[in-house]
Amino acid sequence: MPGTCVVGLQWGDEAKGKIVDLLGDGFDLVVRYNGGANAGHTVVVNGKSFKLSLLPTGVIRPNVTSVIGNGVVVYPPRFIEEMESLAKGGIDLAGKLFVSDHAHVIFPYHMEEERVLESGTEGKIGTTGRGIGPCYQDKVGRRFAIRVGELLRPEHLRERLKFIVPHKNKVLAALSSSAKAFDADQLAAEYGAYADRLRPFVRDTALYLHDALKSNKRFIFEAAQGSLLDVDHGTFPFVTSSSSLPSGIWGGTGVPAKFVHRIIGVVKAYTSRVGQGPFPTELDDGPDGLGERIRKIGREYGTVTGRPRRVGWLDAVAVRHTAALSGADEITIMLLDVLSGLPELKICTGYELDGERIGYFPSDAYLLERVKPVYETVPGWSEDITKARSLSDLPAAARQYIDRVAELVGLKVSVVSVGPDREQTIMV
Ligand code: GDP
Ligand code: IMO
Ligand code: MG
Repeated sequence: MPGTCVVGLQWGDEAKGKIVDLLGDGFDLVVRYNGGANAGHTVVVNGKSFKLSLLPTGVIRPNVTSVIGNGVVVYPPRFIEEMESLAKGGIDLAGKLFVSDHAHVIFPYHMEEERVLESGTEGKIGTTGRGIGPCYQDKVGRRFAIRVGELLRPEHLRERLKFIVPHKNKVLAALSSSAKAFDADQLAAEYGAYADRLRPFVRDTALYLHDALKSNKRFIFEAAQGSLLDVDHGTFPFVTSSSSLPSGIWGGTGVPAKFVHRIIGVVKAYTSRVGQGPFPTELDDGPDGLGERIRKIGREYGTVTGRPRRVGWLDAVAVRHTAALSGADEITIMLLDVLSGLPELKICTGYELDGERIGYFPSDAYLLERVKPVYETVPGWSEDITKARSLSDLPAAARQYIDRVAELVGLKVSVVSVGPDREQTIMV
């Protein structure tokens, strides 16, 4: 069976990119199935850092073919920018990267709509501002959407934009008197030029992946975002607009679920979240507090927007829930080194809702914001663990922490990460 999925079990930024990169060598294809340039996956190889937003992490592995599936939303300038920056570093993607002709295209009017809605005082989601939500809205609404394949036909593209842009301008003007207006001909020319750059990469990736399945190629499906940001099962409405759980694979690539035999749930040793929404274990304890210390040591600032990430203790209730939703077979514990030097650590093992202990994760955000975490306190360690390469190199308290998390989640731990570099990894 050929497919492995790497999925985040928190609110994103669990270091999925590092796990995809670590596994990359043993696979033929790395496939993105959801999201767009709202993702930010950083991989560090021998001190050199690669930051990928739209392109799959597989692009930095020489023997891997990368695929942007139909479930992804594509902003062409970003695609070109990432490709050019890799080319400068000597990575040529010709014949090694494909993008689905069925993937939907993000236009500047999507970003403008998001900017206007997010600058209001109410209903803020704290999005990345990349036009993700409005583009997925158009996809589901059908009438005003444009797919990558349509960019390649200049006359068709112009006609579609002539129909869509006046509508968008009306909506934008109604939303805000300061909203920008767009010109269909100008957009058609701009996107026509992008299309010339994209053309060699575009194909029906579902057909391509089906051929790859027939020749027993091995796949990694790389999730963007985290399970708690999944549009159906996450902390709605403070979620993204796509299926980040492995359930997104079938719809987002055309590869049936029966081909995915291994699901790796990626877990940060604590929790982070960017944007609005409930976060029961958040350490919101001021500039001298533990939260700020973890944020500084863990460099918890968004890759995409540079926003400080909110941080807090590991929430085993949430991770047990997302491990079940994603069908995870194992978990990886990332950024463990960030917790070094804390005398004691807390793990959330339960919730109280209105004074009553509850044994489940309420994924309704309006309920979740009312829960109080119940903590178990465990000893910390003071040693630097960034040079540990096997479990036996770790202090006893760090090993106990890993064992306790595994026990609470109910899954084995297959990887422990003790630093950003590919080398700073313990394969369990
Ligand atoms: P992703 O979106 O899930 O791929 O995660 P991000 O790349 O956005 O965030 C994870 C960050 O942590 C990146 O900057 C990584 O380079 C870094 N990182 C990964 N693993 C470790 C680790 O074990 N320790 C530390 N200190 N940093 C890590
Ligand atoms: P990776 O793949 C963390 C968050 C945003 C916001 C919400 C909706 O790097 O883990 P959107 O722009 O998607 O409409 O924003 O989702 N968000 C992420 N948070 N990591 C990500 O991706 C995220 N992608 C979106 O901050 O709260
Ligand atoms: Mg990220």
